[in-house]
Amino acid sequence: MPELRPVTKENWQALIRLKVRDDQKNFVASNLYSIAQAQFGDEFEGHWDLFAFGIYDDGGQPVGFLMYGLNFSHPDQQAYVQRLMVDEKFQGKGFGRFGMEKALEIFRADERIKVVAISYEPENEAARKLYAGFGFVETGRIVEDETEAVLKLR
Ligand SMILES: CC(C)(COP(=O)(O)OP(=O)(O)OC[C@H]1O[C@@H](n2cnc3c(N)ncnc32)[C@H](O)[C@@H]1OP(=O)(O)O)[C@@H](O)C(=O)NCCC(=O)NCCS
Repeated sequence: MPELRPVTKENWQALIRLKVRDDQKNFVASNLYSIAQAQFGDEFEGHWDLFAFGIYDDGGQPVGFLMYGLNFSHPDQQAYVQRLMVDEKFQGKGFGRFGMEKALEIFRADERIKVVAISYEPENEAARKLYAGFGFVETGRIVEDETEAVLKLR
């Protein structure tokens, strides 16, 4: 089975080597940037705890990256998936869906999380399809030039 493994001092260098295709580069920040953000925080409204993971295939090879934020006192969304990427060599094999499934499993297990948010570039059809498949619904809001979508868990 593939798995999510937290970013640690042992694996971060392998994870920053994962890359998306050139034509996808404006869809997602680099993993190096995300890992720095997870360490030092970002300037979103309110305090978000950030959690960064590598996505690993069943042979233990790193194939992707996922990061989410939690803020249990936020009135609208208590979790958001801030980054998801699968290396260009491993796309189309179910790893992106696996990463989202795992994140949603973690969120569903926590009663404090009522709504999950996500955002993507308006032209990112693969992302839109992937998230819509999990039930995410577009809110009509644009957040930092990205289309926002939410999933109500409870
Ligand atoms: C979006 C991304 C994470 C999907 O990961 P993946 O492992 O390639 O996708 P999966 O194999 O798990 O596919 C899951 C679903 O995603 C959608 N999808 C994935 N690739 C797609 C493509 N090229 N075109 C259309 N839909 C696509 C489909 O709905 C697919 O389900 P299906 O195969 O039943 O149609 C990956 O393509 C990626 O890293 N893209 C660049 C970075 C990015 O855009 N990240 C999201 C930022 S919001």
